[in-house]
Amino acid sequence: MVDSKDLVLELGSRPPLTETIVLQRCVSYFRNVHSTAALEQAGCRVVNTFSCAWTCGNKLFGSLQLVRHNVPTPRTVLALSDGSALRSAEEMGYPVVLKPVVGSWGRLSALLKDGDAAKAVVEDREHMFPLYQVYYLQEFVDRPPRDIRSFVIGGETVAAIYRNSDGTDWRTNTARGGKAEACKVGKELDELSVKAAESVGGEIVGVDLMETSEGLMVHEVNNTTEFKNTVPATGVDIPGLVVDYLAAAQKR
Ligand SMILES: Nc1ncnc2c1ncn2[C@@H]1O[C@H](COP(=O)(O)OP(=O)(O)O)[C@@H](O)[C@H]1O
Ligand SMILES: [Mg+2]
Repeated sequence: MVDSKDLVLELGSRPPLTETIVLQRCVSYFRNVHSTAALEQAGCRVVNTFSCAWTCGNKLFGSLQLVRHNVPTPRTVLALSDGSALRSAEEMGYPVVLKPVVGSWGRLSALLKDGDAAKAVVEDREHMFPLYQVYYLQEFVDRPPRDIRSFVIGGETVAAIYRNSDGTDWRTNTARGGKAEACKVGKELDELSVKAAESVGGEIVGVDLMETSEGLMVHEVNNTTEFKNTVPATGVDIPGLVVDYLAAAQKR
């Protein structure tokens, strides 16, 4: 176990780790992506790779890969100013979802129900760090009050849960009170999850999906996925499968 807060990496030197394979578990986006980059260049094989972390860590980059690989995903629009963001929200038709391109646990994602709400949120964002002025707007998907989180390890969908809203929030993240319930991994869920993982070069990922009248849609792929709620809900030993995967990868 290495605490990233204690990790110091001198560029061009050997890493202060004897291990050649590193499982990146840092939930801080910034520490994760920067330490992955430096460890990789020092010769470590990091799971997931820097390329995967970079792609998944930013919702725009992640969505671009999903679209590029024809993975069904909600209609998404990029706008780069307050005016164009508001015009595109109007054109998409309310309600519209606005998400920060870097963020997790549903944090700062907003459900905009009308132009006044959109103006208020966009005005706030204009006074924030410039990253929040990258406007990532998405159609609000008409779905049941739950979404699906599947787990892909080495190209296999090993488990999935429904995340049921507790009725207090439109977001279903377990970090926001979404309740985990086992979800059967059928053919569609399996194939889409594996395809989504491949589209971002993910070896061990959590795939977020929504159920729509036209089938499943993937809205994001998570490169450092948490599993504490999934293990008790499904009985699948995800950490054990992760270790097995890494042990096999080390031998290859
Ligand atoms: N386009 C959408 N339509 C309806 N609900 C959405 C949409 N996008 C996200 N959500 C809800 O918000 C939650 C968080 O969104 P997500 O894109 O997964 O960001 P985060 O990285 O914060 O988890 C999802 O789990 C889902 O419940
Ligand atoms: Mg998510």
